[in-house]
Amino acid sequence: MRVERLRVGVLASGRGSNLQALLDACARADFPARIVVVLSDRERAQALDRARAAGVEAVWVNPKDYADREAFDRALVQEFEARRVELACHAGFMRILSPVYMRAFVGRALNIHPSLLPAFPGLHAPRQAVEPGAKVSGATVHVADEGVDTGPIVLQAAVPVLPDDTEETLAARILVEEHRLFPEAVRLFAEGRLTITGRRVTIK
Ligand code: GAR
Repeated sequence: MRVERLRVGVLASGRGSNLQALLDACARADFPARIVVVLSDRERAQALDRARAAGVEAVWVNPKDYADREAFDRALVQEFEARRVELACHAGFMRILSPVYMRAFVGRALNIHPSLLPAFPGLHAPRQAVEPGAKVSGATVHVADEGVDTGPIVLQAAVPVLPDDTEETLAARILVEEHRLFPEAVRLFAEGRLTITGRRVTIK
């Protein structure tokens, strides 16, 4: 068993409730990972406050300081590499990441998304489920690749869509599952129990 806990870096743009679930998991003595830095593209992201409150380094990387997306993504990679991040967690990071970033984290970046992928990728996934009257949606943790909410699926949880659900009520019920799934996926990764073969992830 590894002695040192897995070094995790988190990308988050907003509220940071998934970050909080990860911080809470990492606070437990038997959890095999720890968050070493949280990066945000938004100065006032609540996620940065949550990181600081937990004693974790929080860094705003201002997209306006960079000429283009690739330069910004290179900065993210540098921030992670400077802290020897082994696993990147995308916890509500609302920017599309270029190959510059993704190639640095092939097979070691996890994304959380509020739908049963491949259904409803992109923005407003709960709204995408409610509008056509889908009966089931859910949450997915997947290995991030160069697409938007694509990549091999690690864990999923189904959530029923109720007849009177709104985007908000469905999102809130999905969020409960997200907070359970993301730390579980990080644990599996940290314990070396995930094997990625092509498009598939198998769990030992
Ligand atoms: C979460 O529901 C997450 O799954 C979603 O953004 C929300 C962030 O909430 N991510 C995506 O839609 C990615 N395409 P949080 O800041 O409270 O964790």
